[in-house]
Amino acid sequence: MNSEKLSHTTNDIRQSGINPNHWYVVATSQEIKTQPLEVKLWNQNIVLFRDSLGKIHALENRCPHRQVKLSHGKIISDYLECAYHGWQFNNQGECVIVPYLEDKQKLPKNCKIREYSVKELDGFIWLFPGDTSNLIQPLAIPEWDNLNYIATVSVIHYQGHFSFLIENLMDMYHGHLHQDLQAWTDAQLEKIEETPNRVDAYYQAQSYYKIDKIWSISQLFFPGLRKLHPEPLTVSYIYPHWVSTLGEYFKIYCLFCPISLTETRAYLIHFTSLNAFLRLHKLPIKFRRFVKDLCFGSAQKLLDGLVKQDIIMIEEEQQAYLENPQQKGYEFNPTIASVQRLIQNQVKP
Ligand code: FES
Ligand SMILES: [Fe+2]
Repeated sequence: MNSEKLSHTTNDIRQSGINPNHWYVVATSQEIKTQPLEVKLWNQNIVLFRDSLGKIHALENRCPHRQVKLSHGKIISDYLECAYHGWQFNNQGECVIVPYLEDKQKLPKNCKIREYSVKELDGFIWLFPGDTSNLIQPLAIPEWDNLNYIATVSVIHYQGHFSFLIENLMDMYHGHLHQDLQAWTDAQLEKIEETPNRVDAYYQAQSYYKIDKIWSISQLFFPGLRKLHPEPLTVSYIYPHWVSTLGEYFKIYCLFCPISLTETRAYLIHFTSLNAFLRLHKLPIKFRRFVKDLCFGSAQKLLDGLVKQDIIMIEEEQQAYLENPQQKGYEFNPTIASVQRLIQNQVKP
């Protein structure tokens, strides 16, 4: 893109809230077993738990008796029991049992905590904190169950505003930071498309990986097998999440859970495609499922390494902002302005 000009960035965006009328990812499916789990989404403390059928429920994490966290409690035949005095709550957040109630005493009236809309989908727990009359569909991750994709998941948990992470993920010029991990290099922005709900940025880059032979997977472990070649690199901010494709071989998602103005959690999912191996597709489904499960996490070292390097930069940006919120920056990548416009438009009243 030859229209790239130097611009000055301001920091108002670091005070921006979220649009609650979207699905956010608050946990992985695996994180919720038989115990209730505490999660946080944009200053709200929430408890997740499974009923006896394994279905997920989400309630405000506060016992209305004495305001302690319900996540310290346990599940007693589908009810969530508070650890302190044993009051029990149903899936809708209503108090249904006070264990020491005397015969002539009644359950407190309107003793109810907030229930959240929650879904378990594609290996993650999705929560909708907004107005449920507006329910939309969560972002689809078709690769999660597709036998031709090998997944790796890494958690990004840092002290900083969510805008720093999405700006990092949309600005592919930061491949410079990851040189020693050989992820991609020489990115060049070709085009940006903006709509009210998404920003798509199209880059050309040099990739080190080509997964077109069965042994190519070993490139993930042995740097000597990697060779630079050009590939299209597309990154999309599909508010509030991020999706990227690098050539035909990789698809990466980043699922956001903004916790507060200064804390963010996100799940990075890396998929390696096995689409090029036609012979593999003829094998029995059971075997292919076995291979998919066996290879789960094969890019863990690479992914965790990238995340670590990014977190150092992002947390430093947040610190610099807190020390001097008025400090302006210099920016050549117009994708940053597009991302900030999208965040601002989403929270407009
Ligand atoms: S504080 Fe929860 S039962 Fe008393
Ligand atoms: Fe990065």
